[in-house]
Amino acid sequence: MSNQSNEHVRAWYPGHVQKAKRQIRENLKKIDIVVIVLDARAPVATTSFEMKIFKDKQRVFLLNKTDLADSEYNKKWACEIAKLYPTLLVNKDTKRKELLTFLKSVPTKYANPRIAVVGVPNVGKSTIINKILGRHKAKTGAQPGITRGVQWVNVEGLTVLDSPGILFSEIFSKDIAAKLLLIGSLPIENVDDEIFDYAFKIYASAAGVQKDIVQFLEEYGRSRGLLKKGGQVDYEKAKTLFFKEVSEGKHGRLTYDTEFEKFWEVLKNG
Ligand code: GTP
Repeated sequence: MSNQSNEHVRAWYPGHVQKAKRQIRENLKKIDIVVIVLDARAPVATTSFEMKIFKDKQRVFLLNKTDLADSEYNKKWACEIAKLYPTLLVNKDTKRKELLTFLKSVPTKYANPRIAVVGVPNVGKSTIINKILGRHKAKTGAQPGITRGVQWVNVEGLTVLDSPGILFSEIFSKDIAAKLLLIGSLPIENVDDEIFDYAFKIYASAAGVQKDIVQFLEEYGRSRGLLKKGGQVDYEKAKTLFFKEVSEGKHGRLTYDTEFEKFWEVLKNG
């Protein structure tokens, strides 16, 4: 993370995140296939982690949360990434069978390949592991960075690490920070106003919204009754709720990353 972008995203490496990072490194030696989960709304931003730790591994990509992204871009991104890596478009409604068929089709020299599911916070790793394992009771967390415990589980000829590998962005630009904010991968309270403004511009451009952030939040806050005692809009509350809703897809199916060459650039440099 560069010092300049660090100023925009205050340090927020809680202990369990550090622990998760250590765990993925410790388990890495045993892993044959790395299942990299990306958010289909921001495939570049969610690829910007230390990719080189997986350079000797068979890598496959799951473009998740496709229900929240633009359907045309979903297809385009899948075709693009599939040029080099096995890639599947998924979301919370994807059938377990489809996911398992895909994972079992990944070329590997191992009879019973060991698989780990990795990705930046909140992309849906736990949801995907639950699906692979056929576990209905969700062990997921809406708060970025909540996942713990390590265990290998055998499923239909695959050995799956029952613990998501949480990864953190290495090439941390303002653009990446803003997009991670828009998809709920950065905790709102750790982001400064410059990133909020930038993220709003990205959102507005994708959604075709003409207003600036102040005008927009004024109307939004009023419409939601987010007012202070004197009747003025509570800007902080409006901002927090709005960005939470955007990350949950409540303001439209939007894709923020639309440049394919950036994906390969980030992948190469990560
Ligand atoms: P961390 O523990 O923060 O690293 O998160 P994670 O990557 O394990 O994500 P998790 O599976 O906990 O999902 C995060 C949130 O996204 C949860 O509220 C899920 O219900 C939701 N979610 C996961 N997949 C999808 C999807 O395909 N579509 C939608 N709309 N929501 C999803």
